[in-house]
Amino acid sequence: MELRVKLAEDTIDETDLEALAEWLKTKPRLTKGPLTLEFEKEWSRWLGRRHSVFCNSGSSANLLAYYTLLLSNRLRNRRVIIPVTGWVTTIAPAIQFGLEPIPCSAAPDTFALDSDHLADLCARYEPALVVLVQVLGVPASMEPILDLKERYGFLLIEDACAAIGSHDGHRRVGTYGDLSTFSLYFGHQCSTIEGGIVSTDDLELHELLLMLRSHGWSKDVSRATHAKLVREFGIDDFNEPFVFYQPGFNLRSSDLNAFLGLRQIPKLSWIARKRDENHRRYLRRLGEVLRFQKFSDESVVSSIHTAAVARNSAERKQIVAALRNAGIETRMYTAGNLCRHPFWTDRYPPFSSPLPDLLYEAGFFLPNHPYLTGETIDEIAEIIQDSLKNPAKDTGARHDGNSH
Ligand SMILES: Cc1ncc(COP(=O)(O)O)c(C=O)c1O
Repeated sequence: MELRVKLAEDTIDETDLEALAEWLKTKPRLTKGPLTLEFEKEWSRWLGRRHSVFCNSGSSANLLAYYTLLLSNRLRNRRVIIPVTGWVTTIAPAIQFGLEPIPCSAAPDTFALDSDHLADLCARYEPALVVLVQVLGVPASMEPILDLKERYGFLLIEDACAAIGSHDGHRRVGTYGDLSTFSLYFGHQCSTIEGGIVSTDDLELHELLLMLRSHGWSKDVSRATHAKLVREFGIDDFNEPFVFYQPGFNLRSSDLNAFLGLRQIPKLSWIARKRDENHRRYLRRLGEVLRFQKFSDESVVSSIHTAAVARNSAERKQIVAALRNAGIETRMYTAGNLCRHPFWTDRYPPFSSPLPDLLYEAGFFLPNHPYLTGETIDEIAEIIQDSLKNPAKDTGARHDGNSH
């Protein structure tokens, strides 16, 4: 069976591509330049934060966020609480930089950090850093986490890579972290082909992010900071542009990607609304037979894909077979429990906890994107309802819609 319904569809549409083709004819600068700065400014304005740094993926955004905090000398120790439901690159930098990652379980309602477990870990380890994932567009309950932040004084990285456009009724998701990260990969809420952003309100962290994104030089920081560095280190004016103050990376994106990004921002309210509508429709149709994350009525759930959990892996098998046979793309629930993957178990003891383990064994994704219609959702719901009553034979159909 051919793939009829994909998990994700690109938000770069035909008019974006036509505009891009016209722009290319003007022979613009393609590497990082004025459009990158404009995109960063517009993103900050849309999000409601002071500063944003555009880079080449959400994973790069996380890498930059960790290293920036590490080099800022604000981490009082090397202990970092990491979520077990998220993406490998949410926690890989903790391993790459030789920090001490401590797994925290998932909350039974939102599947983000379990605040009871977090409280226990904070009391035991007094971590310098906590990493929170806004899981798949369903806003985390921030109040208990912010109370713990206040009480224990840890820094917070908020990985909102898969939650662009979500709102918890008080604030936009992505406005809580000391540093918050976003992914603009094709399958996410909106796309710059590949892309990532780190946003913050802290000027010092912003300038460090800019330096670390580009080799560790000072070309991208404010004139005042650049001049201060030149004075402090007594730099010759000819050498000035190519002096490296930090051991940086090159994680830049380009003005071509920024051109596309600038065209996605005006679409974000529509995209978030459509994703929220679709998500709620799945819950109305399937809430009795599958488990879903919970959220408050006033939330906007800009879900990336709608994540569902069967009762056990046998039931998931039945559903997955029926979906595949009908040409509906599905896949595992992000990574389920990250601490069951070899990258983790090769280094640390496996971490087991009922909900993350259930996500690993029985979680799966349903298509959600702004072009998905209510009729298609109803059809998918019927296929699932039916598969639970009359298990279908797995014909071995496999689909790769490139959702990641
Ligand atoms: C929570 C989370 N963090 C980070 C990433 C990485 O983003 P990217 O694919 O742009 O590297 C993803 C990707 O899906 C994600 O879901």
